[in-house]
Amino acid sequence: MGNLYYFILLQCLLAPSVIGFNFFGFHGFHSNPDIFCIAEHCSSQSAACVEDRDCRANMECSAKCGFSNFNCLYECINTYENQVYDKFMKCMVEDYHCLKLVSPDPSFRCKPPQAQVKNFSLSALNGKWYIVYGLNPEYDCFNCQISTYAPTPNSKNLTLTEKYDVTMLNGSTRHRVTVQQVQQRDIFNGGLLDFTNVMMGLMMYEKWQIIDFAESGNYAVIYYCGHMTSDWYYEGGLVYSRTPTISSEDLVSIQTAISTKLGHKLDQYCHLRTEDCVS
Ligand SMILES: *[C@@H]1O[C@H](CO)[C@@H](O)[C@H](O)[C@H]1NC(C)=O
Ligand SMILES: *[C@@H]1O[C@H](CO)[C@@H](O)[C@H](O)[C@H]1NC(C)=O
Ligand SMILES: *[C@@H]1O[C@H](CO)[C@@H](O)[C@H](O)[C@H]1NC(C)=O
Repeated sequence: MGNLYYFILLQCLLAPSVIGFNFFGFHGFHSNPDIFCIAEHCSSQSAACVEDRDCRANMECSAKCGFSNFNCLYECINTYENQVYDKFMKCMVEDYHCLKLVSPDPSFRCKPPQAQVKNFSLSALNGKWYIVYGLNPEYDCFNCQISTYAPTPNSKNLTLTEKYDVTMLNGSTRHRVTVQQVQQRDIFNGGLLDFTNVMMGLMMYEKWQIIDFAESGNYAVIYYCGHMTSDWYYEGGLVYSRTPTISSEDLVSIQTAISTKLGHKLDQYCHLRTEDCVS
């Protein structure tokens, strides 16, 4: 079995470099991914991946996507990602740096607004929110994003459990869940929050800014800047609502907040489905 799985793994990893696929920075044999490093440190995870139908399909699917075709890659990941794949990624990327992630735009940096509310109490987030608008088409525009915040036991943090739907290659919907830790470092700058999120076995760090929080508690307007590696940054924005739909009065306040504090128009955001979701 040993030789066989290395052979298949090599094919999965090396085929892309021939066609110039660089999502994970495939730049040749010895450099990235480092096959010897994988063999030394992640051989059990790679064997598990090759033996697992979905994990293997994920590798093969990603390899076919071609040069920096991110939509294609996300479709593969949305369809096939599972714990076996996540463990393999964690081993290769986080634990042993056998694979260096290459940002689609290494020069990109966030431009955070200086506009967060100062007197924000973290506990105001507790409970359930619907994401009705999202700014970043790659990160924020999933349907049925339902976020629930609850206190983290033995900590001042909150735990965010976020449900969202992704579309698989065959067009059907898959329900996903991520769990994040949320911390307020400075109560005098209360609208600035630290999020850590593990996705695909990779740690992501995000700074969230509460841009506007309804006095009624009905909605929140949020900007965030995240990074995965030292040169892979991304930013986005969300509008949270306590109810699946927003009243017309609140919508006017939201439009005012995003225009005066962020310089955005609501039609730059995607309007997300929040009804008929799996609860
Ligand atoms: C926070 O400050 C704003 C503006 O100074 C004020 O309108 C609002 O009532 C305050 N909110 C809380 C929860 O103290
Ligand atoms: C789509 O693919 C998933 C996963 O492979 C499968 O469970 C589902 O039944 C498929 N749906 C259709 C409509 O083919
Ligand atoms: C609290 O949240 C911060 C930021 O997400 C995280 O770094 C830290 O590990 C969390 N603490 C606990 C006890 O979970």
